[in-house]
Amino acid sequence: MTDSGPGEPTHLDPEDWDAFRALAHRAVDDTIDSLRRLEREPAWRPLPPGVADRLAGSLGPEGIGEQATYAEYRELIEPYTNGCRHPRFFGWVQGTGVPLASVADFLAASINQHMAGFSQSGPLVEQEVLACLAQLMGLPAAASGILLSGATMANATALAVARRAHAPGDYDAIGLQGPGRPRLAFYGSVETHGWAGKVAEFLGFGRDSFRRVPVGAEHRIDVAALAARVADDRRQGLQPFAVIGNAGTINCGAIDPLADLAGFCRAEGLWFHVDGAFGALASLSPRHRHLLRGLELADSVAFDLHKWMYLPFEIGCLLVRDGAAHRAAFQESGGYLRSFERGVIAAGLPFAGRGVELTRGFKALKAWMCLRAYGTRRFGAAIERNIDDVQRVVDRLRREPELEVLGPAPLNVVCFRYRAGLEAEAELARINEEILLRIQESGLAVISSTSVEGRFALRIANTNHRARAADLTQVVDAVLALGRELAPRPGPR
Ligand SMILES: Cc1ncc(COP(=O)(O)O)c(C=O)c1O
Repeated sequence: MTDSGPGEPTHLDPEDWDAFRALAHRAVDDTIDSLRRLEREPAWRPLPPGVADRLAGSLGPEGIGEQATYAEYRELIEPYTNGCRHPRFFGWVQGTGVPLASVADFLAASINQHMAGFSQSGPLVEQEVLACLAQLMGLPAAASGILLSGATMANATALAVARRAHAPGDYDAIGLQGPGRPRLAFYGSVETHGWAGKVAEFLGFGRDSFRRVPVGAEHRIDVAALAARVADDRRQGLQPFAVIGNAGTINCGAIDPLADLAGFCRAEGLWFHVDGAFGALASLSPRHRHLLRGLELADSVAFDLHKWMYLPFEIGCLLVRDGAAHRAAFQESGGYLRSFERGVIAAGLPFAGRGVELTRGFKALKAWMCLRAYGTRRFGAAIERNIDDVQRVVDRLRREPELEVLGPAPLNVVCFRYRAGLEAEAELARINEEILLRIQESGLAVISSTSVEGRFALRIANTNHRARAADLTQVVDAVLALGRELAPRPGPR
């Protein structure tokens, strides 16, 4: 180690490796202790006001050293998560974090591979993960893919590929600019996640280019309405280019008729993209794979390993059937990226040509280590249990006269509310919102809420590999108890 001057260390490696080793070991021990304690901890604890005060302005020219910084992590950061590691976390759609993946993230950061490509092991690992996932989704072995930060980025990247594949020849140069450029349009059901609007704007199409198509009773896209909308748009001079099929809608987990959508897209010359952010992972369960029939016909599929494969954030995946179409969307070169027949860059930078990012971290390692250690079957079994446990909840909710299921619940998500004969929507919303917040604030569990056909709903999404049926039972019991406490008692007759 060299110092720039007396008393002025410039290096950022530990000054005392033995002390650093002890600190790293302690971090591992503390983390494993905290994982083993989860069950006895609240699912969530509110942030004390002092934490924000202590974190604000905590950084400046002088550091406080490794030991003191770790102590602050333990005091100010580690206890105050949203609770998504906990066995009773059922909010939004968030994975619980497989412990081996935490080790993998540490190792990935330690070897610090730049995942654009290069002649190194990481890209081979990512390729193997993608090949395994493509097989699980029923896509051909030749399919291309990339690991990204999440489903929003994977969906956005898919749309960029679709746009390039179906846009006019000079699209890459002129894009959407200039007179006479076609107004592009893409389609998905009204139940499509909010990424579609954001991405329509981000890619420059404008939010109106995302055409929201009505759904039927099971929240599945109405294919006849889709066909009518596409035909109408064509008559108006728009250029339809893609259809999004949902494999697991955000609200209720509904699955669009994917095979019908694939057939429609083929007949109409449209790109068929599936947003399977969590639902596509049901294909790991042999008992539930049939629900996703038609997924294997998609031109592209986006999904998250940080949702229903329980890996820690972030890791999303995009698979593209036609590798040439995938690469065509992201061509770029520069003298500084030239490859040679030998040396560090002989393998080129294949992943730089599969998305807009040049630099990506080694997310693939956690996927590879967990799949290598546990095999796809064990993940499939966990997914299967999540679905079975939620289906048991659905059965119970349907039997409880005070509770009401809202919308379909075909998978691992159920929306419901305390009803108990109440009619006024505003009152139902107020009572159920209070139930939601009391459950969260009590630390018993984390559930979330949504709106189903305009009605306020409590929502359980089970992408939790630690949850047991009894954890869900506790949530339903608590909703009933709180509902009875909060609902106005019927007056004397
Ligand atoms: C169906 C669906 N699509 C897209 C997303 C966005 O995924 P991410 O948060 O990983 O960007 C989600 C997130 O819950 C989702 O459920």
